[in-house]
Amino acid sequence: MLTVDLDAALVAAHSSYADRRPRSAALAIAAAKVMPGGNTRTVLHFDPFPFRVQRAEGSVLVDVDGHRYVDLLGNYTAGLFGHQVPAVRDAIIAQLDRGWAIGATHALEVELAELVCARFESVEQVRFTNSGTEANLMAIAAAIHVTGRRKVLVFEDGYHGGVLTFAHGPGPLNVPHDFVVVPFTDVPAVQAAFAAAATEMACVIVEPVLGSGGCIPAAPGFLDALRQLCTTHGSVLIFDEVMTSRLHPGGAQARFGVVPDMTTLGKYLAGGMTFGAFGGRRSIMAAFDPTQGGALSQAGTFNNNVVSMAAGVAALRDVLTPEALVALNDRGDVLRERLNVTFAGAGLPLTATGVGSMLNIHADDERWVELFFHAMLDSGFYLARRGMIALALDVTEEQLEAFAEAVERWAADPRVE
Ligand SMILES: Cc1ncc(COP(=O)(O)O)c(C=O)c1O
Repeated sequence: MLTVDLDAALVAAHSSYADRRPRSAALAIAAAKVMPGGNTRTVLHFDPFPFRVQRAEGSVLVDVDGHRYVDLLGNYTAGLFGHQVPAVRDAIIAQLDRGWAIGATHALEVELAELVCARFESVEQVRFTNSGTEANLMAIAAAIHVTGRRKVLVFEDGYHGGVLTFAHGPGPLNVPHDFVVVPFTDVPAVQAAFAAAATEMACVIVEPVLGSGGCIPAAPGFLDALRQLCTTHGSVLIFDEVMTSRLHPGGAQARFGVVPDMTTLGKYLAGGMTFGAFGGRRSIMAAFDPTQGGALSQAGTFNNNVVSMAAGVAALRDVLTPEALVALNDRGDVLRERLNVTFAGAGLPLTATGVGSMLNIHADDERWVELFFHAMLDSGFYLARRGMIALALDVTEEQLEAFAEAVERWAADPRVE
């Protein structure tokens, strides 16, 4: 067993990080004058201050101090295609030549809708939004509308957006729905919640694999149990596949063989551009149909943002073949296994969880994860401060091999006294 002074190791890591990043340090000071904590996307903050990216070169981020990092974070799954995949880049540039601030319907939104509906079994019809958060807000609103009920069953550690977060109880910014929060992957708890209020349950919203909650898959049978309870009691089952849709060409619903009533999407599906979508059974989506006097008027200036639509069409049609996606997820499985062998072999209290291309490094003592994070930055690899990795298509075998070796070197000598 290692004798560790994690606090001292972290102080040393922060100080050496800061010393080598004077430009990012100066920008942190400037940023803090105009943005609270110098930040406009909380999850990107870390101590002592985050490096500021100057540019991307393929799968490598270059910061303003000239440090280079292989991007293993993949923008929390939104960066599946990498930063500069030619087909997406060309589609965006071609669209810029045809105009971008278009307040009218256009053909590209039809094309993207067809691609999305063809991909995910539960999505007979779809509507676009600007973000995954918005998609979830709309799906929940639709479920409340079509059922005439108010309760929304959610899971501890579930994350459906900054206003729909359940990590340590409902988040302070959460929208005021009548949430029923039960432990993830706990069938008896869900059964009890239904037994107590089945006729009031509008919907269950679940990530098939917790993403922000640490890349934790549902236990076998859990999603089937949700499907059965929702069918029995007339509640809408919503799969939040904003992250997990990347786990299989047909989404996690195809990977795990459970078809929800509604699915929400986001992140990578527009090739890395701003995007969200919700869809589902025709009978539910009819509530949004303006030709039928649809009761729900889903506004949104940028819902059919033509640059996102153009990027999404190119990404889904020309880049994301089923073979490419399966291979990416296989690489994630191999990497996770290797990391766990490394951690266990070195006697370190870290583990890697996840499914396919979504991974998360965990430790009971959070300081280990932070130390690991800084050690990897030092070695030229960027992952989430909380330990998340989301592999992108442009990360090469050589880069993954170099990462695995960097982890092995660190594990053999994590520099904690
Ligand atoms: C499962 C899940 N749902 C919803 C969201 C929110 O998406 P967005 O950040 O695009 O609003 C996220 C973002 O991380 C997510 O992981």
